[in-house]
Amino acid sequence: MYKVIQDLTESRSLACTALFVLFFVILLNPATAVAQPASTDAQVTARVDALLQQMTLEEKIGQITQIGPDPIGPNAPKPEDLIRKGGAGSVLWTIDSARIQKMQEIAMKESRLKIPLLFGYDVIHGYKNVFPVPLAMASSWDPGMVERAQAMAAYEASVSGINWTFGPMVDIARDARWGRIVEGAGEDPYLGAAIARAQVLGFQGPRLGTPGRIVGSVKHFAGYGAADGGRDYDSVYIPEELFRNVYLRPFQAAIDAGVGTVMSAYMDLNDVPASGNQWLLQDVLRRDMGFRGFVISDAWAVASLKVHGYARDPEDAAYRGLTAGVSMDMGSETYLNNVAKLIESGRVPVSVLDQAVREILAIKVRLGLFEHPYGDPAAKEKVLNDPAHRAATRTAAQRSMVLLRNENNALPLRKTIARLAVIGPIADSAEEIKGSWTVEEGPGVSVLEGIRSKLPSAKIEFVRGGDMQRLVPMPWDGAAGRKAAPLMPEAEMAKEVEKAVKAAKGSDTVVLVLGERANMSGEAASRVSLVLPGNQERLLEAVVATGKPVVLVLLNGRPLDITWAAEHVPAILEAWYPGSEGGNAIADILFGDVNPGGKLPVTWPRATGQEPAYYNHNRTQAPEDEPGFTSRFGDFPTAPLYPFGYGLSYTTFAYSNLRLDQKSIPTSGALHVSVDVENKGAVAGDEVVQLYIHQRAGSASRPVRELKGFERVSLAAGEKKTVHFSLGQEELKFWSPQSRAWVVEPEEFDVWAGGDSKAILHSEFRVTQ
Ligand code: BGC
Repeated sequence: MYKVIQDLTESRSLACTALFVLFFVILLNPATAVAQPASTDAQVTARVDALLQQMTLEEKIGQITQIGPDPIGPNAPKPEDLIRKGGAGSVLWTIDSARIQKMQEIAMKESRLKIPLLFGYDVIHGYKNVFPVPLAMASSWDPGMVERAQAMAAYEASVSGINWTFGPMVDIARDARWGRIVEGAGEDPYLGAAIARAQVLGFQGPRLGTPGRIVGSVKHFAGYGAADGGRDYDSVYIPEELFRNVYLRPFQAAIDAGVGTVMSAYMDLNDVPASGNQWLLQDVLRRDMGFRGFVISDAWAVASLKVHGYARDPEDAAYRGLTAGVSMDMGSETYLNNVAKLIESGRVPVSVLDQAVREILAIKVRLGLFEHPYGDPAAKEKVLNDPAHRAATRTAAQRSMVLLRNENNALPLRKTIARLAVIGPIADSAEEIKGSWTVEEGPGVSVLEGIRSKLPSAKIEFVRGGDMQRLVPMPWDGAAGRKAAPLMPEAEMAKEVEKAVKAAKGSDTVVLVLGERANMSGEAASRVSLVLPGNQERLLEAVVATGKPVVLVLLNGRPLDITWAAEHVPAILEAWYPGSEGGNAIADILFGDVNPGGKLPVTWPRATGQEPAYYNHNRTQAPEDEPGFTSRFGDFPTAPLYPFGYGLSYTTFAYSNLRLDQKSIPTSGALHVSVDVENKGAVAGDEVVQLYIHQRAGSASRPVRELKGFERVSLAAGEKKTVHFSLGQEELKFWSPQSRAWVVEPEEFDVWAGGDSKAILHSEFRVTQ
């Protein structure tokens, strides 16, 4: 009935054989022999083996240990002392360049084997120059821009001495309650894969060891985004077909792009913690997906194997982590304190330890760390203050924003406005605008400041209008006895709303900036409700009631319940956390210097209860497009407020002429799809042309639609372009729960092209045996 396409392992081993043959052809050819790259596989292996042979048990355990910058207990050794005796392979959580340099000097000059350290840090969306948060970067649908941004971040990190980033985070997130949705590329495996690939290439360059780049760590392997109920860290239950078809695809893209390391996730995956899950880390990651680097645990995840109720004690946790395939223990020192006992008792064969050490050393060799272990202190000042980096953050922010509503062309605003009110609890913040996970302190531009510099002679009044805060402290704050920031007292908030109303009445236009504080999304920042936090909904309704023209700008890390606003506010701009130059980029769009072209990488719900909400669900026996079944709820529509892929522009686009070069292809074939897109308005603009497919029947029910191609194009007013896509095995295959393999099935397919996941321009084709 279907043709099983080559198992990944098989195709990889063929590829490996081909490479092997090529390697010898090149080696034996006198013409090419001199032009060998510095580190062939064989050279890396030889160097690693030579080192391994000299290593004591203590030094091997050191290599698989990543320590923090401070001792983790009263009797724990100092980091510098550990490094001196070869007791650490890596250090995390320090960005003090002088200390990094000193530690690396100790490793390179004072330790017996002079093995360089990896310095790991979360360089997620910029280093000093902060780019928009990852969910925003994905909203640009511009992998080229994402790659360039991460290359700049890598460069800033590398001169500072950081040679390893804990990114990209590629967890698919279908539930906006989950706080970490902000760190990824949203809900879609195809877009997620494209953004993952771009980030790896940006961080690492075309190969490990590219000057000015660093090694990446794709995370969190795997399935973390499916946390039960959107509650961070909670258990995840994912059937294998969903796991492979959706959750693993961006990881595969990162691996194919050459990512050096993988970070194992915190949570239980189908009842087995991901960081002690041999099936996941060996069978899936290494055998099926072809990963060849090393696995780092998430912070303390090895020690947590006991907390989960999986390992009996720390020694058992070390056993389970190491034998499952976690090569390096992040922060908990569980390997440091227990692996010697496990080797001596024979519970862990030394070959298992050696394998982990080999993988780590190989990455260090490939990175060129033995030759170039240090940052570049002399260049640091210049690189971190490079105006080109700063300018790139502004462009990225402009390209990441999504125009959600623009009734009667309420936007762009005229620059001749005389009196403007800027209202909102974080509208004047140059910090919140950058989002979380910023690394070295650098200046930010608030929305207020951005607007002020755009309209230097207008009268601009700012009012906070109230407050919002997280109500539960961060776990690490709570553990240290620190409380969550207090919310402004109710009476004061009421006064703020009055002030806001007064300011609105005295202005020609209001820019209302609502959303969430940066610490309301990210790790340990799930929310039970997506409503605007604090008194913002009241503020919104009171300001709109003044009858003044209102533009709503959102600063947030997830879709929020803005259903009332979507009916009453004519213009809504989703700015996410747009980074260092965020305020300027917002002003560029509000006043028409830039035409927005971002699109949603997530489905935008009407209410929290619609979550999890995602466009690529199965059709079911009661499809919503058939009469009588318009909603799956008895009390609410099923349709989201805005569909995946949606976003407006100051111009409009028309699609026509969807063409397929063949109506029928074999399972091994590919067809070519093209579509015309035309800018129908009076201004230039960008459109993200999207291609979706649906398989009508097969060995399993397939999603109503799946994104299988996209391209962001710029069109002058009146310009028309033809956009081309290809649909072949890669796009048509899926992992079938019946055959338990990747298949391309001889079936009929729908295809749509357009500007979002509701695209209507349709065609069809057939795949034959
Ligand atoms: C997070 C990771 C992060 C690590 C190191 C953990 O708590 O889950 O995403 O990379 O800390 O900072």
